[in-house]
Amino acid sequence: MNLILSDILGIAYLVASVTFILGLKMLSKPDTARRGNLIAAVGMAIAIFATIFLTVDENGAGLQNKILIFIALGVGTLIGTRAARTVQMTQMPQMVSLFNGMGGACAALIGIIEIYHTQPDEKGKLLAICAGLIIGTISFSGSMIAWGKLTGKFGDKVFPLQQFLNIGLMTIILVLAGVIIFSTTISPVLLYMELLLCVGYGILFVLPIGGADMPVVISLLNSFTGVAAACAGFLYNNKAMLTGGILVGSAGTILTILMCKAMNRSLTNVLIGAFSANKTKQVESEHGDVREVSLADAAVMMSYAKRVMIVPGYGLAVAQAQHSCHELEKALEEKGVEVNYAIHPVAGRMPGHMNVLLAEADVAYGKLLEMDEANTQFANTDVVMVLGANDVVNPAAKNDKQSPIYGMPILDVENARSVIVNKRSMNAGYAGITNDLFYQPKTSMLFGDAKTVLQQLVSEIKAN
Ligand code: TAP
Repeated sequence: MNLILSDILGIAYLVASVTFILGLKMLSKPDTARRGNLIAAVGMAIAIFATIFLTVDENGAGLQNKILIFIALGVGTLIGTRAARTVQMTQMPQMVSLFNGMGGACAALIGIIEIYHTQPDEKGKLLAICAGLIIGTISFSGSMIAWGKLTGKFGDKVFPLQQFLNIGLMTIILVLAGVIIFSTTISPVLLYMELLLCVGYGILFVLPIGGADMPVVISLLNSFTGVAAACAGFLYNNKAMLTGGILVGSAGTILTILMCKAMNRSLTNVLIGAFSANKTKQVESEHGDVREVSLADAAVMMSYAKRVMIVPGYGLAVAQAQHSCHELEKALEEKGVEVNYAIHPVAGRMPGHMNVLLAEADVAYGKLLEMDEANTQFANTDVVMVLGANDVVNPAAKNDKQSPIYGMPILDVENARSVIVNKRSMNAGYAGITNDLFYQPKTSMLFGDAKTVLQQLVSEIKAN
């Protein structure tokens, strides 16, 4: 009987693993992403219920604490459903960070519980416990700091010798892990010390990261949680947990590498938290006056253009102006104007933010040009319309070595014939720095909330 149950459990884990892989594959295209998410969620439900009902110990007894498990499941489901239903699109990155941190904390807690069921000679198990605890805890405390930064609760904190402190702390963490694994006795106290050190490392590692570098760290923390979950899967010999963890870990790592490339940063710098640490943010600098354009003139400029490129940014998401943006595209196309979108890899506040936002408004995927392709098109573009973007079009990334975004590839909008920038004020973007683009002779500012401005622009263009 036990053999049959464990066989069915094995099959359930196999089915769950297949759904995770299929789901992940389907997430790579906007038209299959929703279905992919659903398929992977069903797989996760199969894995959870199979674990609860089919796990038996060597005496043939099932799980003892099903009531507690179902209470925890109920509470988690209620909180998760409510959070997902009520979250604003612009608060999504914070929520992802928070949930990611919870995943890391779970993996760390598993290590703390399992140390009490481990013998000193079970070195493989001890290794998995330490790895899960270290990676999971760093992911937890790092994600909490990332959450705080994304919600604006606190800013970047840079202090002297930060990098040396981080390297020193990581060395102590690794040495202590060695002591725990190779000791002849099991010491939970050492594990709690390890936990505290890792909480500290996670905080120190994310605190100084600022400017345009948060995206890399967020995807790195995401991959950490995956690896920590895989360690827990290894500990319990749970194949679904192992596969799920490895998929999250490897997908997160690939995304981190791609982000590093897009941001022109090295992964070593991320790991020791060196980003922006020695760079000061520009505050206001002496610039000339900006030139404003009226709605009517902006409408005429675009209506009579041959090619218009829209550059969406975080402000478009704040204004929830994606549908109005699509209306602008259609109004211009009716006038025979060719309209495309230039998508910077870190525009917005989460990977793929602009793609998701525009897909929500049914903008054709083929119209979204990735940064490299868009940069080849600006010279043939009559009007660039920058909608709530700032850092991703800031030329300081190319020509100001002191800028916190120096080295980040940007959208070269100034190569177009004219640039219209829509934002509400002269306030800075995420990196907190002024933008020379706004003061260039080719640029004119169209101030106002993106949604209101776009709605008025569409009416003007239709009336033209
Ligand atoms: P930002 O540089 O943050 O600029 C957004 C601009 O939108 C602001 O200057 C703001 O100016 C304007 N804005 C805000 N609300 C608006 C509204 N209702 N209508 C019109 N404009 C509005 O955005 P970006 O260019 O997309 O760059 C993204 C930044 O976030 C980068 O520094 C990136 O590194 C960072 N980041 C990205 C991610 C990911 S993964 N994408 C994650 C974390 C951080 P006003 O206030 O004057 O309107």
